[in-house]
Amino acid sequence: MTTLGRPLDDMQKLVSLSKRRGFVFQSSEIYGGINACWDYGPLGVELKLNVKKAWWDSMTRRPDIEGLDAAILMHPLVWKASGHVDGFTDPLVDCKKCRNRFRADQVSSKTCPNCAGELTEPRNFNLMFKTFMGPVEEDASVVYLRPETAQGIYVNFQNVQTSARRKIPFGIAQIGKAFRNEITPGNFIFRTREFEQMEMQFFVKPGSDEEWMEKWKSWRHQWYLDHGFNKDNLRFHQHGPGELAHYAKSAFDIQFKFPIGWLELEGIHNRTNFDLGRHQEYSKKNLEYFEESSKEKYIPFIIETSAGCDRSLLASLCNAYVEEGEGDDLRTVLRFHPKLAPIKIAFLPLSKKEELSGPTMRLQEEFIQDMKTQYDDASSIGKRYRRQDEIGTPLCVTMDFDSLNDKKVTIRHRDTMAQDRVDMTQLKDYVAQKLKNF
Ligand code: GAP
Repeated sequence: MTTLGRPLDDMQKLVSLSKRRGFVFQSSEIYGGINACWDYGPLGVELKLNVKKAWWDSMTRRPDIEGLDAAILMHPLVWKASGHVDGFTDPLVDCKKCRNRFRADQVSSKTCPNCAGELTEPRNFNLMFKTFMGPVEEDASVVYLRPETAQGIYVNFQNVQTSARRKIPFGIAQIGKAFRNEITPGNFIFRTREFEQMEMQFFVKPGSDEEWMEKWKSWRHQWYLDHGFNKDNLRFHQHGPGELAHYAKSAFDIQFKFPIGWLELEGIHNRTNFDLGRHQEYSKKNLEYFEESSKEKYIPFIIETSAGCDRSLLASLCNAYVEEGEGDDLRTVLRFHPKLAPIKIAFLPLSKKEELSGPTMRLQEEFIQDMKTQYDDASSIGKRYRRQDEIGTPLCVTMDFDSLNDKKVTIRHRDTMAQDRVDMTQLKDYVAQKLKNF
């Protein structure tokens, strides 16, 4: 894939393109919006589904990974065992004058960055959203919206292992919503309070964990490269002792170069036997694994790969965005990998006349079952190409009056703008081959 053109230099350009073209809208916009919540529009939802499918297939088509879809609401003891009730907190300070609230680690002095008022001492604030199960709002009925999907996998470890007749090493993959009452959400969909995670927990024999950690680091990095991410936009960041989560022996982030800087895209963690050990302790159920070959019993270690779906989508938009030319010749292109592109082909009759629109629609019909397509006959062909470039459609098919005689159509390529004339009877094979070998 070619990378010519100017990369995205300002997140605001993406925010406005996303709204104008229907990728992402502010949630409840007609009521003035709600902070840090976003809705995915017609193109955004396609892109998100494509990101999830690419991830899901890369995980569950492996012979050593099973899928799962656990409930968002779980037994409250899960979050006690996981450490989230006691430890999933941020230290907060309040301004005594203007009442604004800040994360203690993000203010450098004892005075408010807003009004220079005096700040309180830091207090720990739990990031989990609480709600009540059933009709009575009392302490005994408190439940939490899960802050990570991982725990649904740990509590189902034995169910999956026995029902799927799995031997260690094996993994469990899950995609689902997670919720965190973030103190400083922002940067568009980078940090939100409701988001989706794509998490995989790989259960291994203690002692083999470091080897598996290296393998998963390399596989996950490769996944981004395989889906069109520029290698210069990716790097690893190893967590130092002060950054490590309470459960982790070692942790690496895959970071992406967003226009706002290098930031975490995905976390890869060696969680040791912490999680299963704690669930064994709190549930009082034996979660040991019996290894037939060695007759050993042990609590498996876990290598976790934890990607944010929304964040991967944001990174895929940033990575794909390029501008070419200036002024009236400005061309904005989303150079998505074809697997991620929301629309794979646009069908564009040169004229609105029935003579051309009818056959173009009939040609589109042949593709509708296999991929998401669009039909557009409004305005000049040049403008229509630009509209498709801006939403990242890899191929446009144009039917003109010659097509009626020679039975050929013009295929226009998004990245090179090159055009080929292709026989309509060959179109399906041509498209399949082009989308595969982009
Ligand atoms: N189970 C481990 C875990 O949840 P994490 O580093 O807290 O680890 C994993 O989160 C990924 O989830 C992050 O790399 C990021 O992509 C995504 N993520 C976390 N918090 C998020 C938020 N508030 N908004 C959007 N994505 C978030």
